[in-house]
Amino acid sequence: MAGKVKNRTVFFCQECGYESPKWLGQCPMCHKWNSMVEERVTPSTSSASVTKSALDLPKPQPLSSIEMEETDKLKSGILELDRVLGGGIVQGSMVLVGGDPGIGKSTLLLQAMRNISAKKLDVLYVSGEESLKQIKLRAMRLGEFNDYLKLLPETRLDRIQDIIEETRPMAVVIDSIQTLYSETVSSPPGSVSQVREATGILLRIAKSLGITVFIIGHVTKEGAVAGPRVLEHMVDTVLYFEGDGRNAYRILRAVKNRFGSTDEIGVFEMHEDGLHEVENPSEFLLSGRLESAPGSIVTCCMEGTRPLLLEIQALIADNAFGFPRRQAAGTDHNRVSLLMAVMEKRAGMRLSSSDAYINIAGGIKATEPAVDLGIVMAIASSFRNRPISHDTVAFGEVGLSGEVRAVSDVRQRINEAKRLGFKRILMPKGSLKNLKSDVAGDLSIAGIRTISEALEEI
Ligand code: TYD
Ligand code: MG
Repeated sequence: MAGKVKNRTVFFCQECGYESPKWLGQCPMCHKWNSMVEERVTPSTSSASVTKSALDLPKPQPLSSIEMEETDKLKSGILELDRVLGGGIVQGSMVLVGGDPGIGKSTLLLQAMRNISAKKLDVLYVSGEESLKQIKLRAMRLGEFNDYLKLLPETRLDRIQDIIEETRPMAVVIDSIQTLYSETVSSPPGSVSQVREATGILLRIAKSLGITVFIIGHVTKEGAVAGPRVLEHMVDTVLYFEGDGRNAYRILRAVKNRFGSTDEIGVFEMHEDGLHEVENPSEFLLSGRLESAPGSIVTCCMEGTRPLLLEIQALIADNAFGFPRRQAAGTDHNRVSLLMAVMEKRAGMRLSSSDAYINIAGGIKATEPAVDLGIVMAIASSFRNRPISHDTVAFGEVGLSGEVRAVSDVRQRINEAKRLGFKRILMPKGSLKNLKSDVAGDLSIAGIRTISEALEEI
C-alpha cells in the first residue's frame, strides 16, 4: 500500500499551517513573509493504528442516552486556572497552553499536576526540554510532591504513546509539543508536520482513553519553530499565558474553549515559590496608592470580561531646553502625545513646552482607548498641580475634536468601581443611555461630552 503513494513535499506556513504545493514569499492566509518551509509528507501509517484496542467503535445514539456527571470537571486546585478552563479540567480534553519562553508555562502546569496528584490520581509529566534534575530543581521551589506524579524525559512520540497507554494516567503534560518527534514524519521536530502528527496522535489518546492532555507550545517570533497556532483548531481549549517578563504579573487567557467562555482571564503573580493566584487584581493594583496626589487618577480597563482598575500617574514638568520629553510606561506613548495635542488645541492648555511622563502603576499594559479620559485628567491634574479627589474613576475614549466617546462594558466597569468603594465616576455621556437606573446605587455618575467638561469636573 505504502509503496504506491509517493513521498511528496509541500510547503507549510510555519506561522499558521497554510499548505501550498509551491513556495510562496508571503503566506496568503496569515500574510507573513518568508514563513513557507518545505516539508516532506510521508503518508502516515501510525496514526491510523493508534489505540485501536481501546476504541470501542462508536454507534449513533440519541442525546438522551448520554449520561452526564457533575464530576466530569476535575479541579486543578488553582482557582484562576479552573475559571479560565470553564470550571475545571474536562476529562479526555486537550488543552494547549501557549506563551513566550520563560513566562511560566511549565511552572503553572507542574503546580496543577501537583494538586491533582495530591488527590491520589496518577499524572504524567513528559519533558522534552529539561532534564529530570532541572525539573526536580523547579519542583523543589514549589513544595511537596507525592509519588502519583511521574516524570518522563522523552521526545519520541511512539514511546510516549506506549507509556500513556500502559500506565493510563489521569492527566498528561507534554512540555513542549515542539520537541516531540515521530519516526513516520521526516521533517524535524517543531515543524508543522511533526507538530500536527504528534497532536493528532495525542488527541486520539485523549478521546479514546479519557485522559486529559495538556500541550505546552512556545509562541516564537519569526523562526523555524511551528507556532502553536497550527494546532488551535485541533484542540478543545487554547490558553495563552501572557505577561511582561520584567514584572511579576501573568495573565492567563482563553482564546478558544469548547467547555466554557473565552472571556475569563486568570491573574497570577510569579514568586520565589511559584505562581500565586491574584484573586482581586484591582485591589492589588491599587494598593500603595497615595491619597490626593496631583497627577493621579484611577481608570477602568477591560481584560476580557474582567474589569481592572488601574492608577494612571502623570508628571508634567517645565522644560527649559526647548526639547520637551514625552515618556509613557504601560501605555502607548504616541497616544499620549496625541491626547496632549488635543488638550492643547481643544482645552487651551499650554502643554507643548512641558515634559510629560505617564505611568500606569502596577506594570499592566493598558492599550484600550477607554483609558484616554483617565490619561487626560491625570495630565491636567499634574499641570494645574491640583489633585483629583481620590475616590474618582474616569474612563472614556477621547477623539481628535476633544469629544469623549462611548465605550463598551460600562456596567461591569461601574460595578467594579462600586465594589472597591469609589464614589464618583466620570464617563462618556453616550454610554449613559443604555444603563439601567439602578446601576449607580450611591455612586454619583457624571456623563461627559468633551474633555473641557471633564476638566471642569476636577
Ligand atoms: P517556566 O515555567 O520555566 O517558563 P516556561 O515554561 O514558560 O518557559 O518559568 C520561567 C521563569 O519563572 C524562570 O525565569 C524562573 C521563574 N520562576 C520563579 O520566579 N519562581 C519559581 O518558583 C519558578 C519555578 C520559576
Ligand atoms: Mg518550560
